[in-house]
Amino acid sequence: MAVLVTGGAGYIGTHTLVELSAAGYESVVLDNLSNSCETALERVMEITGDNYKFYKGDIADREIYKRIFEENDIDACIHFAGLKSVAESVSFPLHYFQNNIIGSLILVEELFKRNVKKLIFSSSATVYGEPAFVPITEDCPKGEIPSPYGKTKSMIEEMLMDIAKADREFSCALLRYFNPIGAHESGRIGEDPNDIPNNLMPYITQVAVGRLPRLRVFGDDYDTRDGSGVRDYIHVTDLADGHVKALQNMKKGVSVYNLGTGNGTSVLEMVKAFQEANGVDVPYYITDRRPGDVGECYCSAAKAEKELGWKATRDINKMCEDAWNWQKNNPNGYR
Ligand code: NAD
Ligand code: UFG
Repeated sequence: MAVLVTGGAGYIGTHTLVELSAAGYESVVLDNLSNSCETALERVMEITGDNYKFYKGDIADREIYKRIFEENDIDACIHFAGLKSVAESVSFPLHYFQNNIIGSLILVEELFKRNVKKLIFSSSATVYGEPAFVPITEDCPKGEIPSPYGKTKSMIEEMLMDIAKADREFSCALLRYFNPIGAHESGRIGEDPNDIPNNLMPYITQVAVGRLPRLRVFGDDYDTRDGSGVRDYIHVTDLADGHVKALQNMKKGVSVYNLGTGNGTSVLEMVKAFQEANGVDVPYYITDRRPGDVGECYCSAAKAEKELGWKATRDINKMCEDAWNWQKNNPNGYR
């Protein structure tokens, strides 16, 4: 029995392959490499000593599933494949709806045709919009979602919920990630954005390694401890482990879980933590708020702990060390 991992060559996918191997699962990867490269998969094989069957293709390509299912005994799917840039989605909404929503719809149809009815979906804290309360629990109402990217996540969630209502055999876990950062402790795999990073940690590491001059801190006038934005950063290996625990605890119907640490860290605290953990300087300046950003977003991950037996164990210091270990050993990412 194998797990089909869509988007397995990407940042979270590669780290999840490592944890799946450690837990004894066989994985099969489907990825079109639109935001990743095969080197990442080679590095995963180097870490785990396992071989993964890799299908280079699009989740919306119905033909590719014929080969995948003929050649493998797939029992469940972890669905990471998707485009994830908030800014890009504002400029190219159609592309995001096509890739993420239509792609997911075709994937689920093809799985159902073969009676594969266990699915784990990568959702996001973005579905909560400006959160009604913090710490955010899973029953926090969804808010106004500021980007087409975020809307694709919410719409796919809704689609999966409706499918589960109609088919009682469907087991589906919606994992709402908070802010994954860091890298595998080997320093062989990590986050490798194509252009100038949008997200905080890859921006910090690229400043630290000299690829970018200074970090811009977006706003110091939020209603937070020091005025900068607060997020729930989670080590990508803890996040990956959350997928293994979800897979081991699949139950019929849709289950929603927040995957975060439950702790909020501000931008300025993160800069300080990174400098202290690694003894490197991160020059920064304060600028205007970034449109669409919320001030504070952190979760209660109590439900995942109770139902899945999962809890994030790596702290901010470890996240900073591992992010830097990856960046300094791979100053140009996988290139
Ligand atoms: P990533 O871009 O590194 O990985 C996504 C992978 O999917 C890439 O390898 C890409 O080539 C592949 N892909 C995209 N569209 C595809 C398609 N149509 N067919 C086949 N492959 C396709 O992103 P990531 O950070 O690893 O994120 C994984 C998932 O988690 C995404 O769905 C993302 O939206 C979601 N997510 C990420 C974050 C985050 O901060 N990284 C937060 C919340 C949710
Ligand atoms: N930030 C800066 N400077 C930067 C980048 C970010 O100050 O160069 C700040 C942001 O203003 C925010 C914090 O750092 O306060 C975190 O920003 P990120 O861009 O790293 O993360 P976001 O919380 O904005 O978004 C991330 C993912 C989204 C996902 C969301 C869910 O990028 O895909 O988490 O919470 F939807």
